[in-house]
Amino acid sequence: MTSHIMPTYGRLAVTFDRGDGVWLWDDNNKKYLDALSGIAVCGLGHAHPAVHSAICKQSEKLLHTSNIYKIAVQEQLADQLTEKSGMDNVFFCNSGAEANEAAIKIARKFGHERGIEKPAIIVTDKSFHGRTLATLSATGNAKIQKGFEPLVEGFIRVPYDDIAAIAMAIGQDQNIVAILVEPIQGEGGINIPADDYLNHIRALCDQHNLLMMLDEIQTGMGRTGKFLAFQHNGIIPDVCTLAKALGNGVPIGACLAFGKAAKVLTAGNHGSTFGGNPLACSAALAVLETLDKENLIATAETKGQAICSALAEQLQHNRHVVEIRHKGLMIGIELDTPCTELVTMGLAEGLLINVTQDKVIRLLPPLIIDDMQIKQLVDKLAMLITTFTRETTSINDHAA
Ligand SMILES: Cc1ncc(COP(=O)(O)O)c(C=O)c1O
Repeated sequence: MTSHIMPTYGRLAVTFDRGDGVWLWDDNNKKYLDALSGIAVCGLGHAHPAVHSAICKQSEKLLHTSNIYKIAVQEQLADQLTEKSGMDNVFFCNSGAEANEAAIKIARKFGHERGIEKPAIIVTDKSFHGRTLATLSATGNAKIQKGFEPLVEGFIRVPYDDIAAIAMAIGQDQNIVAILVEPIQGEGGINIPADDYLNHIRALCDQHNLLMMLDEIQTGMGRTGKFLAFQHNGIIPDVCTLAKALGNGVPIGACLAFGKAAKVLTAGNHGSTFGGNPLACSAALAVLETLDKENLIATAETKGQAICSALAEQLQHNRHVVEIRHKGLMIGIELDTPCTELVTMGLAEGLLINVTQDKVIRLLPPLIIDDMQIKQLVDKLAMLITTFTRETTSINDHAA
């Protein structure tokens, strides 16, 4: 049958019909353990009753009003986000890319206010910031940029987790106004930088009057064991972007700002028709309440640790496993061989996983995953990796 959807995704041959917690069922009623949460979106799992109830109640009352009026639930959500993050104010939008667009606009206007006509932002190799023109230009992946040139100018690229490279770039270019990084790179392969990477970036930004901008679209909302990943470092960035798990599946993005960055955008500078509408904000408020009520942030690290140590034990004799790394429930298992095939093998076994950078199995399970489900996930995944590496090795041996 011909599809009338633009073929922008290489889709897997499965259609999900319903979900409950960590589980999904396809249209043939086959059950899957979702260890990916829609790529870090459904942190509370599927069909969480608190989100369900919040959006039902809100939709009975009011779905949308324009941002030319005050929106009470939006004010409440901004109050809670600023309280939890230590930031000062929030711009609401509908996606991660849009949240980063707001961050980029803040950086550019901040630069213009300092008399810099062509403001530039430092970004990193292997980063992912979105698919709009400015965010794909910021992204450190040539495949994502190819065919869409000319790129938006004003991005200076340095290697990730390399403070000396950032310092050198600042020294060489008077136009630099900001640094934009992910606290842990997600699409880039679950790359966890040195513990003090963000502290050094903070210090450089203070020293040179630059904005420190963190893309927490994948790392935020409790995923790494803190509400926001920068809270592991005891610092506050100038700008921080959120989306994905903020609405647990209801589209909402946010650009949070602090101090001088919070004063940059003024009336008429930026906007979004749907940004922060009552429906999306009611979902996000329910998410925040549930993260606290079910103590999901504090337990993310112990759960991540449980998954990784059980996997390490079951795979200890597998020489194809290069590294198992994690922070909270953001997990990467790196093999020494391309392993995208594991995604379809997982699907056949009722397990949803992802492979990024060809060799890194990425797990982003819902924060609500329990001990029994952790065991099921580990047993299935270890079995799949064992089967896959055994088959790959024997094919390679044969070819040699
Ligand atoms: C770190 C990061 N930034 C930005 C984005 C883009 O978000 P969206 O797809 O909601 O535009 C993503 C999406 O995967 C992401 O992981």
